[in-house]
Amino acid sequence: SEKCVEIEVAAMFNKMIAGILPYMPKKLVWMFSKEYIAGETIEEAIVNAKKLNDEGILTTIDVLGEFITTLEEAEENKKEYLDVIDAAEKAGVEGNYSLKPTFFGLLIDKDVAFTHIREIVAKAASYGNFIRIDMEDSPCTDMEIEMYRQLKQEFPGNVGLVVQSYLRRTRVDIESLEDLNSEEFPVNLRVCKGIYVEPEEIAFKKYEEVNSHFLDDVELMFQKKMYPAIATHDIPLVEGAFKLIEKYNVPRDKYEFQMLYGVTPGLRKSILDKGHRMRVYVPFGKQWFGYSTRRLKENPKMAGVIIKALFKK
Ligand code: FDA
Repeated sequence: SEKCVEIEVAAMFNKMIAGILPYMPKKLVWMFSKEYIAGETIEEAIVNAKKLNDEGILTTIDVLGEFITTLEEAEENKKEYLDVIDAAEKAGVEGNYSLKPTFFGLLIDKDVAFTHIREIVAKAASYGNFIRIDMEDSPCTDMEIEMYRQLKQEFPGNVGLVVQSYLRRTRVDIESLEDLNSEEFPVNLRVCKGIYVEPEEIAFKKYEEVNSHFLDDVELMFQKKMYPAIATHDIPLVEGAFKLIEKYNVPRDKYEFQMLYGVTPGLRKSILDKGHRMRVYVPFGKQWFGYSTRRLKENPKMAGVIIKALFKK
């Protein structure tokens, strides 16, 4: 139909623009990336996190950066996270923190990365707070699950993980964490679709397949009395989650919705207005390029956004 042709043409155009993003001047990319980033400094991130708090939204602050190449950077990044936690706690931000293990050298020396991340979790725990370990691409999956398993034993209420519904293995991964689950300290997993490019053998590719597994994963977590953080901007998934919450009669403090900074604020407000807990991922920092180009590629109106930004100046 006409609508399908329209979607296909838009997707083709988006793909073309995505291909040239890395070759565009950084200043130019910043113009249309900045809506996804809460600033370059922790001070700016705190101001923006508190604005969200004022709307009744919790936050999860993240320092941008990933896939580093030296262990010196890992050490620096750890120090930065420790400072960020002190600053956000001092400012009274209502929220927790997310981190990417490759930012601490997971792919260079996983023991070093573990030691750094353990220190960060211990710092958050000293404030009674929580660190979410983001899930990266498939070479990291086993290591990130193992890291979570170890840290959850030492800090049962202060650490969570992410699972990706596009991975064929995810259901089994959730089931494998059951021994760590308890009423007092439930296994806390952010369920998202997954953002990296993975081979067909290990990942579902079709929109419908990824979506149906997303809801299956959330349902499995409700059945096992785990705590899902339902991370999506996709209306059918939000509506599917509402149905599951009703079906299992899940109390409001046993799950939350999550969205990314700057994405679908209207949908976010409608969820909040229904009384559900909502948390926004607040990324900040100088290394915004990789993250924001991933967001741009996911924006179905990317080409339009870019053209509008170019003419707005
Ligand atoms: P989908 O991409 O189908 O988008 C649904 C609709 O949302 C679109 O049609 C559009 O209307 C809107 N939309 C989505 N993105 C947009 C954008 N950038 N700009 C404007 N509109 C947009 N992934 C991962 O692999 N590891 C991780 O640790 C995390 N962590 C994470 C945390 C949180 C809080 C969220 C919300 C997401 C992640 N992700 C992630 C990313 C996730 O895997 C996924 O890539 C994105 O959330 C996009 O998927 P949606 O479910 O929103 O659906």
